[in-house]
Amino acid sequence: MYRSMLFSALLFLIIACNPSNESKDRVMQARITKESFGNVKGEEVFLYILENRNGMKVSITNYGGIVTKIQVPDRDGSLGDVVLGFDSLKGYLDDHPYFGAIIGRYGNRIDKGAFEINEESFQLPINNDPNSLHGGFQGFDKKVWQVKEHTIEEGGGIELSSISKDGEEGYPGKLNVTVEYALTNDNELLIDYRATTDKPTVINLTNHSYFNLKGAGNGNVLEHVLRIESDQFTPVDETLIPTGAVENVKNTPFDFSTPKTIGERIDSENIQLQHGGGYDHNFVLRDSSSKLKSVAIVYEPSSGRQMEVLSTEPGVQFYTGNFLDGTLIGKGGKSYNKRYGFCLETQHFPDSPNQEKFPSTRLDPGEEYRSKTIYKFSIR
Ligand code: BGC
Repeated sequence: MYRSMLFSALLFLIIACNPSNESKDRVMQARITKESFGNVKGEEVFLYILENRNGMKVSITNYGGIVTKIQVPDRDGSLGDVVLGFDSLKGYLDDHPYFGAIIGRYGNRIDKGAFEINEESFQLPINNDPNSLHGGFQGFDKKVWQVKEHTIEEGGGIELSSISKDGEEGYPGKLNVTVEYALTNDNELLIDYRATTDKPTVINLTNHSYFNLKGAGNGNVLEHVLRIESDQFTPVDETLIPTGAVENVKNTPFDFSTPKTIGERIDSENIQLQHGGGYDHNFVLRDSSSKLKSVAIVYEPSSGRQMEVLSTEPGVQFYTGNFLDGTLIGKGGKSYNKRYGFCLETQHFPDSPNQEKFPSTRLDPGEEYRSKTIYKFSIR
């Protein structure tokens, strides 16, 4: 007993005195609690609640890897839940627009669900007529993921893993996927994606959280002030497939290179905005390298909450919840109307398997797919 106390005290001293532990400490401290969240086809799924030392909490279920809640303080210190979603599993099992979910194998659209690899043609199911969207009818958002809770050495988070079979939803190759979520003491939600394949395939993973920094269900997001680290976007046709062009945002409603409210020009006469019913476009990041860099920063003046997005990806889909229509009843019985949430989905560009000039989304055997995104919260 005394020996073990002495050992713990010694361990504490070693950790406390070693400055190289500082960065580990960012992730080490999140406390994880686990609750039952219900059953999916007879299999029990869970809710994992990560809490850091500032009281920030992130709740994640292994059904779809869905982030169900992000509770962060406003400038007066009161916690608010800033992502759209449901109070119970049932809402997520019914039809919904991918609230908080892991998207795969391919985030966003592939033109008519068709592509070729090494001259072999593949046809995906059409779930967003006439295209394939977000991995098909049974995408990664509907999987029950295996979970490993991290030990203290590895960080305060959970690692989700899954095997996607060769041919699943039409995609070639057996894919081994892991997605790691961690919460740091700097109020960052880290998402780390990895995958390997046994046949050449395509992959583009993202997370589909809908944010409202005023709190989920508390009105629309038009007053949020947004900056995106981008000077270009990829225009789309009326089915939201990229035309292949890359256009400058200067002098268009797509210019968020300096901070603008989301609502300032969302309803301008602009053919691209008409195609999306608002913003629903891929922005090409100024630094499109695979280094971790700032993607966007959003500030909500009434609450003082701010969120920065960082990523290793070359693009981001900025979507303003244009298809929300008030029919979905979310958390606390509040309905989600048009533009009640926005998404910043870090990604490779939509339809890349058919666009030679876009950065490649191909993954070959022997390679490892890696992607990392951070949502960092603060107040102003
Ligand atoms: C797409 C939208 C779609 C939404 C929900 C976004 O990533 O770009 O067009 O409606 O996801 O499915």
